[in-house]
Amino acid sequence: MATNPTLVPERVSRPRTVEQLVTGKPTSDGAGVQLTRVLTQALQRRLDPFLMLDAFGSDNPDDYIAGFPDHPHRGFETITYMIAGRMLHRDSAGNEGLLSNGGVQWMTAGRGVIHSEIPQQEAGVMEGFQLWLNLPGRDKMCAPWYRDFAAADLPRFVTEAGVAVTLIAGASHGVTGAVTRAATAPLYLDLHLPAGTRLSQSLPATHNAFIYVYRGAVSVAGQSIPAQRMAILANDAEADGVVIEAAEEAKVLLIAGQPLNEPIAQHGPFVMNTVQEINQAIDDFRSGRLGALA
Ligand code: FE2
Repeated sequence: MATNPTLVPERVSRPRTVEQLVTGKPTSDGAGVQLTRVLTQALQRRLDPFLMLDAFGSDNPDDYIAGFPDHPHRGFETITYMIAGRMLHRDSAGNEGLLSNGGVQWMTAGRGVIHSEIPQQEAGVMEGFQLWLNLPGRDKMCAPWYRDFAAADLPRFVTEAGVAVTLIAGASHGVTGAVTRAATAPLYLDLHLPAGTRLSQSLPATHNAFIYVYRGAVSVAGQSIPAQRMAILANDAEADGVVIEAAEEAKVLLIAGQPLNEPIAQHGPFVMNTVQEINQAIDDFRSGRLGALA
């Protein structure tokens, strides 16, 4: 973006506090990709509408080279944010896209897709995040949707204090992000804070919110949050936002959304409201009704 858009200051007079710090769990998924599950199944109710956040980052190709061969999804959305590296996506709806440095892929699985996510590099660093965002029951069987955003396509600005903000979803400082969703109203910001800066972001008190620090360290309401930690922000009824302060240079994801308050039934890559709907998804997958990769 050549010129900085006109920014509207975010006014936060009663900032949220930190309810809990969470350390991710090392795990392996796909065909042996090593990753850290930051938002685990145990936190799905607390962080409704978000179902999962995985962080991956390695300079050892053995940790990522096999990628995620053909697998299905139904009932939610996946948002992959690639900090470094290249990954090729193909799916049964006929979409194909190369995700690379700073790009985002937003996929609405809806009633079902089968896709593969395969690294396109044999060496070097691969780093990024995959977030799962739930769909309301009425939209779980919608048509699949997919879009790639190259880094240059993502709205980005620098605040007066010098904080660089990339808007993947939602709105901040009067700027609207790459994607918006009415039911879950997701906010997904990547923040680069130089040493000695702070960022204020207004948040509706009822929205569930967390930050994940992936470089440096920050503090929120006096609580310090080191790298590789998620901080769940308290839903204080009086609070109107969050203030993130960086004594040293830091990079942080700020994620918030409106809870759906619906039952969550998950079986691996299928997330529905009831066990019956999960059984239907498994049956549809086995009988080829979720589609197939050409
Ligand atoms: Fe997937």
